[in-house]
Amino acid sequence: MGSLSEIYSKLPDSMDDLPPPPNAEAVEQADFRARHWQSPVTGRLKPGSDAHKRAMAEMFRDTFNPYRPSVIEWPKLDPETLHKIVSLPIWDIAVQTEGKARLRMAAYAALVDDPDVKDAISRNAWEENRHKEVLAKMVAAYNIPMAPEPPYIEPKDAEWAYLVTGFSECVDSFFAFGMFELAKRSGFFPQELTDTFEPIMQEECRHILLFANWLAWYRATMPWWRRPYFELKVWAVWGFLAYERISLVRTVDDKGAVHTQDNNFTVTGTKDVANIDITLPDFMDLCLQEDERRFAGYDSRLLRPTSAPFIARVLRGAGRCWEFASEAVKANRR
Ligand SMILES: [Fe+2]
Ligand SMILES: [Fe+2]
Repeated sequence: MGSLSEIYSKLPDSMDDLPPPPNAEAVEQADFRARHWQSPVTGRLKPGSDAHKRAMAEMFRDTFNPYRPSVIEWPKLDPETLHKIVSLPIWDIAVQTEGKARLRMAAYAALVDDPDVKDAISRNAWEENRHKEVLAKMVAAYNIPMAPEPPYIEPKDAEWAYLVTGFSECVDSFFAFGMFELAKRSGFFPQELTDTFEPIMQEECRHILLFANWLAWYRATMPWWRRPYFELKVWAVWGFLAYERISLVRTVDDKGAVHTQDNNFTVTGTKDVANIDITLPDFMDLCLQEDERRFAGYDSRLLRPTSAPFIARVLRGAGRCWEFASEAVKANRR
């Protein structure tokens, strides 16, 4: 574990040595750089090619946002808002997900030989650790009761663990983009709080952009005889994620209180983050729009994740058919 924590707790360019941003303008510039990136290379970026692989790693390095969790100022909340935040059923799972993600990404990065890919995935592990630190600071600032964290165990099959983390980030981030926008529009939470989380949302967009391109690069460069086994593994990962999402996680804290955590919060929690009634098809629409908006600033030759948008389009289509059918039944009855 020692060497893995080295990976996720030390950035190659040691962030502690970076000077803090001198003013608000510098913070804004860093934020802009994190959202926009174009490769100077011309022509196609074919997955599996060196040019594509380098572009993927450069994108990840160049779009790094150097914010520090320790200097985030958590806004003072009125008692009602504080209660809403504290009672969201997500904090234990959020902290543990980041804890697992940093370890799994570090474990996979340790196995990778290619220096560009190793660098990108190691940085991703480091950013997951930073997310965990941000959450820890928030939990402390708002006094959120937490279940004890389980030990984080180094995965036996690092490739499997990386695939599970990568695909689940693709699904969770996609729906979180929509939910976050909904929370912003409804004004359910103070703007300072949503502003604080905004860079983290965008960071997840970069993470899934990296994952989608890594996956394409990995598929294109693996020996042909490994491919069938790998594709089976990908299907098994999706099966595992579906199983995980139909179950709720229950943990008991040291005072004996039961903590129920919702694995599907990014899809089912719209009522908890916004006082807006939204239909499923409209929510899917919002997620698709937000997904497009967040990816729009990155080189269009880099691949985008496609599975969650596909699921959303299917759900939107099914929802619209249902709405149409129930309207027709009602009209017939009249
Ligand atoms: Fe994260
Ligand atoms: Fe992430």
